[in-house]
Amino acid sequence: MNYNKKTVKDIDVKGKKVLLRCDFNVPQDKTTGAITDDKRIVAALPTIRYLLEEGAAVIACSHLGKPNATFDSFVKKQTEKGKDPATLTEEAWKKSLAKLSLAPVAKRLSELLGREVIMASDVVGPDAQAKAAALQPGQILLLENTRFEKGETKNDPALAKAMASMAEVYVSDAFGAVHRAHASTAGVADYLPAVSGFLIQKELEIIGGALANPKRPLVAILGGSKVSSKIGVINNLLEIADTIIIGGGMTYTFLKAQGGSVGKSLLEADWLDYCNDMMKKAKDKGVKLLLPEDTVCAKEFSADAEPITVDSMNIPDDCMGMDIGPKAIAAYAEAVKDAGTVIWNGPMGVFEFPAFAAGTKAVAEALSKSSAITIIGGGDSAAAVQQLGYADKMTHISTGGGASLEFMEGKELPGVACLLDK
Ligand code: 3PG
Repeated sequence: MNYNKKTVKDIDVKGKKVLLRCDFNVPQDKTTGAITDDKRIVAALPTIRYLLEEGAAVIACSHLGKPNATFDSFVKKQTEKGKDPATLTEEAWKKSLAKLSLAPVAKRLSELLGREVIMASDVVGPDAQAKAAALQPGQILLLENTRFEKGETKNDPALAKAMASMAEVYVSDAFGAVHRAHASTAGVADYLPAVSGFLIQKELEIIGGALANPKRPLVAILGGSKVSSKIGVINNLLEIADTIIIGGGMTYTFLKAQGGSVGKSLLEADWLDYCNDMMKKAKDKGVKLLLPEDTVCAKEFSADAEPITVDSMNIPDDCMGMDIGPKAIAAYAEAVKDAGTVIWNGPMGVFEFPAFAAGTKAVAEALSKSSAITIIGGGDSAAAVQQLGYADKMTHISTGGGASLEFMEGKELPGVACLLDK
């Protein structure tokens, strides 16, 4: 895939209406609806400010959550979840949509920009159309949640065309959603000149650069609970990396495949052969694949459980692995010490429980001290680095969870492929 895409700097936006796709899919407090982390809004500011300063009229849009765009799909989903059909009224559906309105995002964005953000009550309906038509250069309008339109996730050309008809240029800065071929992330590019904003440009340059032409040695640290969700990444990185470090829940499937006893640890029995194949492939290719020599385990999955350090190949029958042990920490820190580039995706253990956060913390600390280019995949690893206080020490923390994972898998990203090449 070509990552060398035109950006907002390569086109004239002065006096133009610009449809700007952002990823404002931010976490919210379940009861109050308050935004609990505004990083994705902050990450979109450089592009928004640039467009406004250049005299564009900005029509911003985003999805938020996974709303049911029709009453029928609401009933179907809720019934599957076991909800009482009697409670599944139109009113209940509308309430569920209201919870996913972008109004709180408009408010926060307005605070951050220090100017009014006009909010539309629909996506391509009469309110959006009228407000977009009246929008002046230097003003910003936010459309309602794109997933309120049933055509959004189906990449319906009619919806894409309707969105495009409000603007003259399409700018995508929604890195977190570039792995989705939806109407607002890819479809609109069929109808408008399409370029990237600064956030996508940065993500492509840093992650794309590390994958295509890394400063070596390239060390990939892969954690998280399941081997099955990381296969694509392991496959792709085995072709590129010099060292692959394994941690987190997926370790135990690798250990079991190597003949270890893993007790009650997380295990994906269907993936044992795959793990052995990967170990062999790494050996054949001269890629160092490191598994933890020791493991911190516990008798139960609980924050209060007593941490017990054991040899990784001999986890007692009544215990489950919860973190990498001190020997593994030392070995992993050593492996990243002289790295040129480190890509990290997935925590080393149950970092949410302080007693089992040492491995993840130590890796974050080792990265913070290294002179390597350090890239943190979004999702859990980004959350871990932030929670443990190392965020400002990393070269780049991706704003994309699924998107950064698919990027590291070497997959084509529809939201990037649709943009104009340089
Ligand atoms: C994310 O949070 O990873 C992106 O906003 C994409 O969201 P989605 O998984 O609902 O498409």
